[in-house]
Formats: sequence, C-alpha cells, structure tokens
Amino acid sequence: MTQFIVQPSHTLQGTFRVAGDKSISHRSIMLGALAEGTTQITGFLEGEDTLATLAAFQAMGVQIQRPAKQEVIIDGVGLHGLIPPSHPLDLGNSGTSMRLLVGLMSGQAFDTELVGDDSLSTRPMRRVTDPLATMGARIESTESGTPPLKVKGQQDLHAIHYDMPIASAQVKSCLLLAGLYAQGETSVTEPAPTRDHTERMLRGFGYTVKVEGNKISVQNGGKLTATQIDVPSDISSAAFFMVGASIAPNADVTLQHVGINPTRIGVINILRQMGANITLLNEREIGGEPVADIQIRSAPLKGIQIPEDQVPLAIDEFPALFVAAACAEGETVLTGAKELRVKESDRIQVMADGLIALGIDAKPTPDGMIIQGGQLQTGEIQSHGDHRIAMAFTMASLRAEGSITIHDCANVATSFPNFAQLAQDAGIDMIVK
Ligand code: S3P
Repeated sequence: MTQFIVQPSHTLQGTFRVAGDKSISHRSIMLGALAEGTTQITGFLEGEDTLATLAAFQAMGVQIQRPAKQEVIIDGVGLHGLIPPSHPLDLGNSGTSMRLLVGLMSGQAFDTELVGDDSLSTRPMRRVTDPLATMGARIESTESGTPPLKVKGQQDLHAIHYDMPIASAQVKSCLLLAGLYAQGETSVTEPAPTRDHTERMLRGFGYTVKVEGNKISVQNGGKLTATQIDVPSDISSAAFFMVGASIAPNADVTLQHVGINPTRIGVINILRQMGANITLLNEREIGGEPVADIQIRSAPLKGIQIPEDQVPLAIDEFPALFVAAACAEGETVLTGAKELRVKESDRIQVMADGLIALGIDAKPTPDGMIIQGGQLQTGEIQSHGDHRIAMAFTMASLRAEGSITIHDCANVATSFPNFAQLAQDAGIDMIVK
C-alpha cells in the first residue's frame, strides 16, 4: 500500500506542465478507434484510467501504437469495425471508461462484459443503464445496479429524448455515443452545463452535433473521420497546484498549457472568489479547446458560500477546494454537491474525516460541507484509494504544523502518474513509501 509522508514546507515554486486531460484522453481513444483513418494524439495522459480505455479497444481488435511518451497513434476501424473481445474488459478504477463504454457497447453486434476494481464495482450505473434500456439496450448489472455489466449485442437501438435528472457529463456522453448507433435523433437535456468534450470532439471528428440551449442531439448514420488531437493539461490535476500555491506562504507557480474550457473552470472562479491571485497568460485555442498558462501566487483566502452553479464546473476539484477552505479565514459552505458522495470514494465523508483528523472544524452535510478555516495540524489520513483525496492532503502540508501521513495512495497513478515528482520539484517535502 503506497503511502505519502509529507513534511511542512511552506514554499511552492516553478513553471511546469501537469498531466494530460483525463476526459479528453479517454474520448480521444474511443473516437479515434471508431473513426476511419489514422488518428494521432499528443499530450495523452498515460494514467491507469486512460490506459484501461486504450487496452479495452486493443482487446476489440484496434491497432494502437505508443511511439513516444504521451503519443498515441490509432488505426481506426470505423463505427462498425470492432471485434468481440476474448475476455471481460477490465476498466480498473475508471468510471468514465465504464459509463461511456456501456453506451458504445450497447450498439455493437457482439456481447461484452465490463468489470472494474472494488471502488468502481460499488458505483451507480443505473443512471446510464436505465436510459439505455429505453433505447432498446439489454444490460445486466448486480441487483444494486453496480458493475459488472453484461451488455448484449445485436440489439436494434432506437433514438430517445432523455431529460437528465442529474448534471453528469458521463451520462450525457454515454447516451450521445449510444446515439451514434440508434435509429433516429437521440437528444439529451442537461439540468446544468457539464463538460462538453464529447460534443466538441465528435465535431472535431467530423460528426454533426446539434446544440440548442441545454439540448444536445446526434443522428445515427454518420461517420467519424480521423484527426489529430493535442490534449491540453488537465485543469483537475492543475487544481492541486492552484490550491497549493494559493495557501503556501511563499509561492509563485505557472502551470503551462492547461485546458480552460468554460465547462471546467469552476475551480478558478471559486478560488478567485475566495481571494486567490490567479492570472491567465497566453490564452489560445488548440484543437477546439481553449488553453492558457495559469500563474498562481500566495494570497490570503477567505471563506465563501460556494455558488451552486459552479458545482458541476468544479465537480472533481472539491477535495482540493476543501483544503483551500480549511486554510481560509472564516466559514466556507458547500451545498448542492451530493454527487461527491458517489465518486471514487464518498468525497464528502472522506474529506471531512481527513480535515477533522488534522484539527479542522469540518461538518459534512448530505450534499456538501461546512468548514471553518483554522490551523492544520499533524495527522494520519485515510485516502480510501481515492487519487484526488491523496493529492489534496499532500497540498495541505504547505500550511500544516507537522507531518501528514496519507495512506493508500497508489491510485494517484490513475490520473496523475508524475504528481509526486512534480510536487517535490516544486518544493513539497514528501516521501513515497
Ligand atoms: C467525467 C465526468 C464527471 C467527472 C469525471 C469525468 C467525464 O463525472 O467527475 O471525473 O470525463 O465525463 P460525472 O459525469 O459523474 O459528473
């Protein structure tokens, strides 16, 4: 079991590039595999989650090469060119792989079984299997609606309109991908904007996607045409260093080439409202996604009521933001975020337990948390195998009184394999055991 042992260091400095965007990396493999022609990807995240997606398509007969670090070349087989895998597809810890693939697999001519690790095997799948069933898909799950998922092939899918009850990019993407195979026009409406990488990337592969207000539709019968993809750095990985540099007394960090898609920048909006000193430099557009270098310097933070409309735009960043709140003056209140309870861990409970272990007054609520800023002390943290919990508490060391030992950190490799190296280079005093 990997542990991070982190000593207080108070300094964070440097100019560097964090890992590639996980959401875009997953989709680049999926769409590249189903395209006609050769897709070239640079900046690919070589994390366990995205490599699980890559291995799944290799198992379905797609030739995928990795000629250099963060480079991937895919010989697309077309929308109907996948072949049956000889074994269940193991998606490890990756909810995105599972939920997007179950949509795609519902449209194939063969059966598949999708399995995952202990954490993924407890995560809710009915949010995707229920609407897929109304499209004509046949999927078996456990009685509680969790993986493994057995997907029957050779079903004639038909288009539906689905009014999504929760703001989830995974649900939206799953249904749009199933829609590529469903007779007619498949559409979804979302209750609040969520990350739109699927829509942008389908268009990048030459597929028509209609967006009217909060309604997104695709029509079957089109094709994907291979393209080149330059994956920006992941704002969700950058978030740890954005919080770290905001709370460290002596910090000046520039994170290069970070994706700043408007559906992902909740963390910037929330930190700025707390008083953070964040500057976007060199803003540009790369392959249909806005990108910038982000400079963050130390700043005194204050507690806020986090606006609920920012929640879906910062959904993966709350572990880091809770650490920022613990270092802020006054009270921070989060509401409207009950989705955090069904991520890789129950991020409300696990973060509250960790903050309390470090001497902070943190009260979990059914859909959020109330945190009084205070002095982080020394302590032991159980990350419950959740990568983002481990990385968030690593940053807490920048304001802690003594060492912090974080247990069960191996899954940091799912999203940010060189996190510890970059953190050490930037000034964090940590040992990985
Ligand atoms: C993701 C969507 C989000 C996010 C996850 C990645 C995606 O999940 O938490 O890390 O790539 O579509 P939800 O759709 O469950 O909010």
